[in-house]
Amino acid sequence: MSTTGKAMHLAALFPSNQSAGWRDPRSGDHSDFATFTGLARTAERGLFDFFLLADYPRLTEHRGAVSEVGTAGELDQITVLSALSTVTERIGLVPTVNATFNEPFDVARRLASLDHFSNGRSGWNVVTTSNAWTGENFRRGGYLPHADRYQRAAEFVCAARTMWRSRAADGPGLFQHDGPQFRISGHFTVPAGPQGCPPTIQAGDSEQGREFAASHADVVYSRHRGRAGHAFAADIRSRTARQGRGADQVKIMPGVSFALGDTDEEARDNARAAQELAISPQLAICYLERTWGRDLSSHDPDGPLPDTDPERAPDPSEWPGIAAAEARSARAQKWRSYAAQHGLGIRQLVMKLTGGKPFVGTPARVAQQMTDYVRSGGADGFVLVPGYAPGGLDEFVDRVVPELQERGSYRTAYTGETLRDHLGQSTQS
Ligand SMILES: Cc1cc2nc3c(=O)[nH]c(=O)nc-3n(C[C@H](O)[C@H](O)[C@H](O)COP(=O)(O)O)c2cc1C
Repeated sequence: MSTTGKAMHLAALFPSNQSAGWRDPRSGDHSDFATFTGLARTAERGLFDFFLLADYPRLTEHRGAVSEVGTAGELDQITVLSALSTVTERIGLVPTVNATFNEPFDVARRLASLDHFSNGRSGWNVVTTSNAWTGENFRRGGYLPHADRYQRAAEFVCAARTMWRSRAADGPGLFQHDGPQFRISGHFTVPAGPQGCPPTIQAGDSEQGREFAASHADVVYSRHRGRAGHAFAADIRSRTARQGRGADQVKIMPGVSFALGDTDEEARDNARAAQELAISPQLAICYLERTWGRDLSSHDPDGPLPDTDPERAPDPSEWPGIAAAEARSARAQKWRSYAAQHGLGIRQLVMKLTGGKPFVGTPARVAQQMTDYVRSGGADGFVLVPGYAPGGLDEFVDRVVPELQERGSYRTAYTGETLRDHLGQSTQS
């Protein structure tokens, strides 16, 4: 599909679960408002559509202990974004709020409040949350099977929209929602915000996740890049059309990191250094243990992969949620032959597996790669994942954004006030 001349959409994500960016000496405290302010303001200076907060409502664990990835802290997002709404003016503010452990009334009220305070800049990244043990924080344990989570999420979004619309006309009208998951009615407490219904973003990859996106989302935040990203975009667009929605109504924005340099070689060195910082030797071993289902701490992180097969039946109390033995065994074999073929040790292999497909190069090269990807139909834009915060986006905004603008593939000023405006959508009431 040729989309020459089409302007891309950009967003910034914080924090990144994978990168353990807090270990970077340039990182600010993840509980310090200045860290959030610095990043959001830089993204706004770069004319980004929105600032997205990822949400991990339970610290990442490995074999019953908190993993080093999860120790930086996870503040409540709507609190953070409400505060940010007072120090930013145009950028969209998007919390990740899961539809599995929350209630529609509460979420609708908080998002409508954020929409008021931000003058129409709130959004909602609707996730279902994959970790069963997250539920233990909410006293429900492994709550709801996977497919039911999406049914609940779809109803959750419909119920929230019903509440928002009930206040679109003057005065408090009645809302009512009757479905298998929720039977709720009443008067919604918050007057309609500037956007009516804040835009929804979806992040989830399964069959049900994709259908949910095609039916309900304004943006899909995906993890697919390269050729897989093209296939993913085509799939989402055809599902969207089947739902009777226009292809442009759902923006596809893969998450992507980047490494810049004055030369391509310097950028490659920077990319390698960032990966080495993100994947510590211990983390590399932990990553492998999730497939082998046993203690691998005696293995040298720079040495070869274990030549024994994964544990067939690991103790579920120590290895909750681990994949079936056949799948782990096939994965182990694939990794072993890939590592042998490319001469990689454990840590190098894990860096390869977790590195994604970052944009790497001079600012001009990165701008061209991004432009080409969008023009060839692979995406409508990107959710950029800086390696650290608050300074990790500065170089991109200062050096890549002007290159994108020069190519005519990115806006040179905000043309609207609300997040819906930035996404190129009319306000829904
Ligand atoms: C790119 C991406 C980002 C995600 N971010 C979060 C997040 O911040 N918090 C969260 O609880 N789940 C997050 N998820 C997980 C989704 O909530 C989803 O529940 C999970 O992927 C299972 O759904 P699926 O089977 O459709 O993929 C993310 C998923 C993707 C693909």
